Amino acid sequence: MCGIFGYVGPRSPAAICLAGLKNLEYRGYDSSGIAGIQEGKLLWCKASGKIHSLEQALEKKLFEVELAIAHTRWATHGKPSEHNAHPHFDADHKIAVVHNGIIENHLALKEMLRKEGVSFYSETDSEVIAKLISHFYKGDLLAATQKALSLMRGFWGMAVIHKDHPGKIIAAARENPIAIGMNLQRMEAFVSSDVHAFHERDLDILFLRNDEIAIVTPGHVQVFDHASLPIEKTTERLLFDEERGSKETYSHYMLKEIHEQPQTIQKAFHNRLIPDFGTAEFENLTLSSADLLSVKRIIILACGTSWHAGLIAASLLEDKARIPTVAEIASEFRYKNPIISEDTLVIAISQSGETLDTIAAVREVKAKGAKVLGICNVRHSTLTREADSTLFLRAGPEISVCSTKAFTSQLTTLSLFTLLMARLRHMSKEEGQAFIQEVEALPNIVESILQRKETIKALAQKYAHYECFFFLGRHYMFPASLEGALKLKEISYINAQGYPAGEMKHGPNALIDPSLVVIGMCGNLRTLDKMLSNLMEVKARLGKIIALAPHDTEGLEEIADDILLLPSICDELASIPYSIVCQLFAYYIALERGTDIDQPRNLAKSVTVE
Ligand code: AGP
Repeated sequence: MCGIFGYVGPRSPAAICLAGLKNLEYRGYDSSGIAGIQEGKLLWCKASGKIHSLEQALEKKLFEVELAIAHTRWATHGKPSEHNAHPHFDADHKIAVVHNGIIENHLALKEMLRKEGVSFYSETDSEVIAKLISHFYKGDLLAATQKALSLMRGFWGMAVIHKDHPGKIIAAARENPIAIGMNLQRMEAFVSSDVHAFHERDLDILFLRNDEIAIVTPGHVQVFDHASLPIEKTTERLLFDEERGSKETYSHYMLKEIHEQPQTIQKAFHNRLIPDFGTAEFENLTLSSADLLSVKRIIILACGTSWHAGLIAASLLEDKARIPTVAEIASEFRYKNPIISEDTLVIAISQSGETLDTIAAVREVKAKGAKVLGICNVRHSTLTREADSTLFLRAGPEISVCSTKAFTSQLTTLSLFTLLMARLRHMSKEEGQAFIQEVEALPNIVESILQRKETIKALAQKYAHYECFFFLGRHYMFPASLEGALKLKEISYINAQGYPAGEMKHGPNALIDPSLVVIGMCGNLRTLDKMLSNLMEVKARLGKIIALAPHDTEGLEEIADDILLLPSICDELASIPYSIVCQLFAYYIALERGTDIDQPRNLAKSVTVE
């Protein structure tokens, strides 16, 4: 996953591309680069590390160019280095290419070109694109690029320039997003992996679909399909959500976003609850009650944290709405040849709306005729264009790679969707009203947990030197345990596992000794006794135990080394407050260990490669 950006127009292409890259850093930040044309010469600059290093390198150069393309990288092929950073070039440095995606047959293409005497300087797959275009170039950059694309397998969002074509950027897409923005008055045009990277809010915008290619010139764009036939594309002026905010007084976006949750949870259910009827409604839901009533099976598709929210939603939809539901890991699902019938609803959950594994799985089920409901936090993202209908999280931009507020907004939104589906079926109005009261109590419960962050901080400092953690839970608390472990893994680089508590005796108990810390997630009353017995088994083997449990739980002192008692809440919603404790715990352990909390190593906020 990477981010690409391009600009052609009267303003400073270098400055505009740098600003665009900063809005794309969530897609990768291990190296970056830019290339442009100046009086028939190709200029370029690359740097390893974050975009700031590219900015510093550019300050030392006179980089006055007529147009530019730029790239921020998340390494797939070839280690993060200035050498492997984009743009990549042909042997004569006439052509520059920036690429997001993977060229799956790059080895075969390199072999073919090597036989023609072409050599390669990087370990990347992307370099082959520049070499291939150069191989076919006879003066027409579009034709040479189309010829190159016809031989490539894999997926791409890419931009190409040639020193002999100072007013032209070629952009192409397959599976990966490319947005193009134009302003005729200012005679300028932009290309990007993400429409949100454009700073201007007065652009006419279009998105390239699979196998489309475009010639982008100042204020104008021509689009062609895979058969090189020109196609008319409608442009739109987009309304954007609130802008990417600052960290305010917080030292990290993660801590700020953790503290936003009383408000973001509130926003997720604002104007969506109908207490009088004990149900919920959604402003954007284009599926009718008849459509929703005809649903006999639900498949949830997602990755990472969103999959954990999907697992909890699957239990909710089965328990409350009595609809058979499975939560599938999208990267596995698409190679399963799934059984889809007309009464199957697919729910695709993605904070960014750009996770390629999830998008590819959505395209797979759509090809089989399924209706797709998106749960997303980013307007105009690819998922919102693929899904039949989308429910928005309204959580505002989530900057920290480690997802926090989006997770609890996903759980809130999915709980409301469950309420709607259940009320359309067997759930009584009174039961619905009782559930609504629990939902409405969430912001205050979360606020009370944030007020205890110093207690959680002290706990984290006490355990920060341990190298192995198990988060154990049952029923709704099992996916919450997976999520707790993922947070700790992501930002503190500690080996942490989430596990169903009842499964420990079937193997992992062998790992228990005084160097292992177990976080007992005891938030579900229905399984509390069983959880306490499982923790007793850990204690018997000298594991360290931190127990998170409802405030009136008895007998914990005999079991746990440390106890955190939380306000009571129904089992169905308990994963929200318990996960926030885990978010803070992971944050303070990472702080103690001095890792890069907002941009952890080897990760990116949106995963646009498979
Ligand atoms: C969560 O902290 C991670 N950043 C990651 O697991 C993430 O949830 C996953 O990549 C899915 O992202 P999405 O919700 O944007 O699709």
